[in-house]
Amino acid sequence: MSAAIIDGKAIADDLRAAIATEVAAIATRDGLQPGLAVVLVGSDPASEVYVGSKARQTVAVGMRSFEHRLPADVSEAELLALVATLNEDDAVDGILVQLPLPAHIDSNRVIEAINPDKDVDGFHPVNAGRLLIGLPGLVACTPLGSLLLVRTVHPDLSGLSAVVIGRSNIVGKPLAQLLLQYNATVTIAHSRTHDLPSVCRSADIVVAAVGRPEFVRGDWIKPGATVIDVGINRLPPKAGETKGRLVGDVAFEEVRAVAGAITPVPGGVGPMTIACLLRNTLQAFKARRGVAKF
Ligand code: GUN
Repeated sequence: MSAAIIDGKAIADDLRAAIATEVAAIATRDGLQPGLAVVLVGSDPASEVYVGSKARQTVAVGMRSFEHRLPADVSEAELLALVATLNEDDAVDGILVQLPLPAHIDSNRVIEAINPDKDVDGFHPVNAGRLLIGLPGLVACTPLGSLLLVRTVHPDLSGLSAVVIGRSNIVGKPLAQLLLQYNATVTIAHSRTHDLPSVCRSADIVVAAVGRPEFVRGDWIKPGATVIDVGINRLPPKAGETKGRLVGDVAFEEVRAVAGAITPVPGGVGPMTIACLLRNTLQAFKARRGVAKF
């Protein structure tokens, strides 16, 4: 058996197209335009690429994009002052402060300074708490994108067992909560879990979010299971390569031979993250301005 490939790029394209249609209808009907502010501190090359791509896609769906670039030695107080200004700015519906921040800045303090109703990353403790107790709120983009991909295979998760490998605050924990909300039976596995291969073999859905290249092997997977690979790792270059290959947390070829459906890397969860950021921005806009659902 060879697993179906879950085409995250195509699913993200469809999601962005639906958002663009709704944004255009809002502009026509209400004369309003949702706005997303992205704050980048310093000039980490990976963050630069990510922020540039966010800005392009924000404009492409018809939203306003505000970019704030601050030097790496900006003080925490200056960054908090910018966040306070963005909280008050009526043109800004969503605020994202790109992580990681330089070591002299307390990331938690910055995240907690963002108005939870503009926290399109879903990282604020208020939004994490809302997710935990099942209240509407803004949900972190990578877990949300992963859930949307799972639901293309399993529109109804009731009764299915899911193992999430990784317990980070930004992926593993919120994704486990989302799967639980959709009635899956959820196990969170991590570096201290005993006999991880057997734990995974019991699952209908395996999500890998550990940051270890090709960690999940073919013989860990129940035949026909759905496998979502959140990892993105660059291997060291082999002889003759200038850059190493990009791989996920799943040994793709081995797992594909056993699974029923699998996300590729790249082209799986990755493209869903920014699409979900735009979805969250539209959600925040509608909630703040009381704009009716279409
Ligand atoms: N850095 C890498 N991914 C993310 C993300 O989803 N949000 C923020 N704020 N920073 C990131």
